[in-house]
Amino acid sequence: MNKVDTFQFWEDIYLKDDAGWDLNGVTPIFDSLLDELNPGKVCIIGCGRGYDAVLFAQKGFEVTAVDFAPSAINSVNSLAKKTGVIVHTIQDDIFSLTPEYANTFDFIIEQTCFCAIHPTRRNEYGKLVKSILKPGGKLIGLWFPLDKKIDEGGPPWGTTIEDVKSIFNSGWSIEKEEFPSLSITPRKGREKLIVFKKIID
Ligand SMILES: C[S@@+](CC[C@H](N)C(=O)[O-])C[C@H]1O[C@@H](n2cnc3c(N)ncnc32)[C@H](O)[C@@H]1O
Repeated sequence: MNKVDTFQFWEDIYLKDDAGWDLNGVTPIFDSLLDELNPGKVCIIGCGRGYDAVLFAQKGFEVTAVDFAPSAINSVNSLAKKTGVIVHTIQDDIFSLTPEYANTFDFIIEQTCFCAIHPTRRNEYGKLVKSILKPGGKLIGLWFPLDKKIDEGGPPWGTTIEDVKSIFNSGWSIEKEEFPSLSITPRKGREKLIVFKKIID
């Protein structure tokens, strides 16, 4: 197993307080998208410290937040408690969500989880998200980093729009695709919002 696919690799980063990806607050793009979505069941994969998990819960969504790093899940739990919302947290590998959570979620939120997982597992990632979404469910992803080549190493491992679309090329439609004006400055032009809708299993 690659070390990035272990909880300890990520836990060590949290313990060193070296989580350079952490926005220390909600993701502006998701915040602005919320008005377009009808509340339902949302799963945030590789949720980190959980600012978006709490945001969705505050807006009436039934939130499941998954991360295998104990520090991440502790942060989500304490933020949810402090804010007075319910977030169902799962401290486990996202790849263990299936089959238990098959056809469960209306939405999956992806932000820097895809690029954190070893690239050899990308098809497995595609199968996982398809499995846990309901038919008609949406994968709302910020696909990043588009300016890095895969052979430059990671995490984060680089990707391209073509790579991403090739993973979701069967049984999916594209609902939305744009370079968001609300990307944080260091990610402007380096991440793309693509919302994939699951059509069939
Ligand atoms: C780059 S961080 C992003 C965290 C969060 N999405 C954010 O944007 O702040 C990647 C996160 O995914 C988690 N992670 C990576 N691989 C995972 C896996 N296979 N199962 C569960 N969590 C995973 C890590 O523990 C880490 O919290």
